[in-house]
Amino acid sequence: MSDPKSESIESVLAENRSFHPPKSFAEAARIGTRETYERMWSQSIDDPERFWGRIACELPWLEPFDEVLDWSDAPVAKWFGGGKINASHVCLDQHLETERADKVALIFEGEPMGDGGPEIRTFTYAELHGEVCRFANVLKARGIGKGDRVAIYMPMIPEAAMAMLACARIGAIHSVVFGGFSATSLEDRILDGGCKAVITADGGWRRGTVLPLKPAVDEAIAKCEATEGGSPVETVLCVQRCGNEVDWTEGRDFWLHDELMEVSDECEPEPMDSEDVLFLLYTSGSTGKPKGIVHTTGGYMVGAYLSTRFVFDLQEDDVYWCTADIGWITGHTYIVYGPLANGATMVMYEGAPNAPHEGRFWEICERHKVSVFYTAPTAIRAFMKWGDEHVERYDLSSLRLLGTVGEPINPAAWIWYRDKVGGGRCPIVDTWWQTETGGIMITPLPGVSATKPGSATQPFFGVDAAIVDENGRELPDGQGGLLAIRKPWPSMLRGIWGDEARFRETYWSKWEHAGKPHFYFPGDGARKDPEGNFWIMGRVDDVLNVSGHRLSTMEIESALVSHPSVVEAAVVPRPDDLTGEAIVAFVIPTGSVEDVQAIVEELRDHVATEIGKLARPAEIRITTRLPKTRSGKIMRRLLRAIAAGDDVTQDTTTLEDPTILDELRAGGPA
Ligand code: PRX
Repeated sequence: MSDPKSESIESVLAENRSFHPPKSFAEAARIGTRETYERMWSQSIDDPERFWGRIACELPWLEPFDEVLDWSDAPVAKWFGGGKINASHVCLDQHLETERADKVALIFEGEPMGDGGPEIRTFTYAELHGEVCRFANVLKARGIGKGDRVAIYMPMIPEAAMAMLACARIGAIHSVVFGGFSATSLEDRILDGGCKAVITADGGWRRGTVLPLKPAVDEAIAKCEATEGGSPVETVLCVQRCGNEVDWTEGRDFWLHDELMEVSDECEPEPMDSEDVLFLLYTSGSTGKPKGIVHTTGGYMVGAYLSTRFVFDLQEDDVYWCTADIGWITGHTYIVYGPLANGATMVMYEGAPNAPHEGRFWEICERHKVSVFYTAPTAIRAFMKWGDEHVERYDLSSLRLLGTVGEPINPAAWIWYRDKVGGGRCPIVDTWWQTETGGIMITPLPGVSATKPGSATQPFFGVDAAIVDENGRELPDGQGGLLAIRKPWPSMLRGIWGDEARFRETYWSKWEHAGKPHFYFPGDGARKDPEGNFWIMGRVDDVLNVSGHRLSTMEIESALVSHPSVVEAAVVPRPDDLTGEAIVAFVIPTGSVEDVQAIVEELRDHVATEIGKLARPAEIRITTRLPKTRSGKIMRRLLRAIAAGDDVTQDTTTLEDPTILDELRAGGPA
């Protein structure tokens, strides 16, 4: 058991258990037969324009579109051209004319457990609509309008979702920055996006203590001010959540509750072109600088609507809970836009899964009678470790469907999830997708698919996926290769903010045919079994996946070398049975190191300050040299093997200095 991850990959390769949906589930499901799925999937591939045109008509357009897809400027797709739509209108207003007006849209549970239980706030669709309109009017009153960028740096509280919807309502572009990112990361994103405003809170509750947020905003803006171009931020809107003391800049900072008193609850939604930008969301690629993924309005909403509806088989009386943070794409599509577009009741929880006890998630499921539950493999592995008793204590009979996302799930965790959480009766949807894809791409359909532990199974509607080799040639079933997507789909990214060239280069240049993009390249390795099921094997580029959080090796390396004691650094992932991958850094110090432990701790903290705690390396090894080819390239694959404690099986003849291997191995954990 020295290497749980590689063991899990082996067990994934050997996995042949298969679970069919219970008959009762299939009978009541939105899509309950294989024939329906296959017919719809074939239509979506053979005639995507007809398929998507029909689905799009299920959304309330403010003005109808006249062209479903324009791919003439590939790889930039234009979906639903000529149409006007507003995402907050889709999520809210359309329900007001129906019985859903008084249906609960959002159930919020705060983390602190008072004597009388936790704080619970619920909002019906009508109430949420009112809140969002007022919030939107506050933004307008502060001079924010269509096309302006607004950074959102918030805890998981209803105001975070309201902030997103308020931006969408007036046509401002939101850029949500995960609350766990540092002031420096926030500064980078504010500057790159040219954000005119920041919406934040004094703090949020995390494991029983207040996690302050406003100080990081102050620091980020101060850093922006110190740059050549100055700070683009004119306004900071602050939600009072925890009552912690905050510094205040008069004329720039405003309490949301004060501003809300000044405005009406009527605000017409801005009619947006289908291709107007809805949001930016930064994610890590292979280079040091995170990229602002651009999503537009019409196609994204159509994708979010359809995938939520069918992958989670949403029924009118479901209580749906996605445990992601809104700082990630999962929170955008499957907490805010997808569920609300479908008129669902969704749960939002502020805090940690083990606060104040390890059964908190299950207590929430029991209390709110959650029926559809969507979480990450890392969380499932943590629950397994904490012990079955925390799950068994609660009544989870309301659950009918489970989902996972963010990283490959090992079969042992899948089976545990199925048995202990799902009572053996709930189908599991293991959903593969990315920030860039906007919505779920490869997934079981719960009423149809025979699920297999560790497989995301089959492509969703409109997704034409293949396994290819480096040259873009399709590989036979069973053979591992690169995952590739052949056709454009509505919720796909439209670009990287301010960097058109990088967009083409990163995603579309690998397999061009006659100068035209042929495949979208997601950066994942995968294989397909003879039944057509996809098995995702993880990233093939320099992207790390730690607890489902995406980070680039170069981003962490840049953070390390920004410390005065570091000359050079190389970062690689190491398999970890809890976090999936853990960060290992090999570091060359500037001078001789007297106290290794002290410098290691200092560097780990430095990375946390530069990027955020999620990027703190699990291990730092101090070394005098790094393995390089004669042309000076760091041999990362070799470092990966050393970090994992594996034998180095690859060719080391290109290594500039073969004696280095012994030093790196002997280094051991610092
Ligand atoms: O490597 C894949 C992994 O997460 C990457 C996308 O990360 P991000 O953009 O942060 O989005 C995460 C939430 C959608 C992918 O390239 N990944 C995501 N879901 C799965 C997965 N790997 C295996 N199985 C999954 N279900």
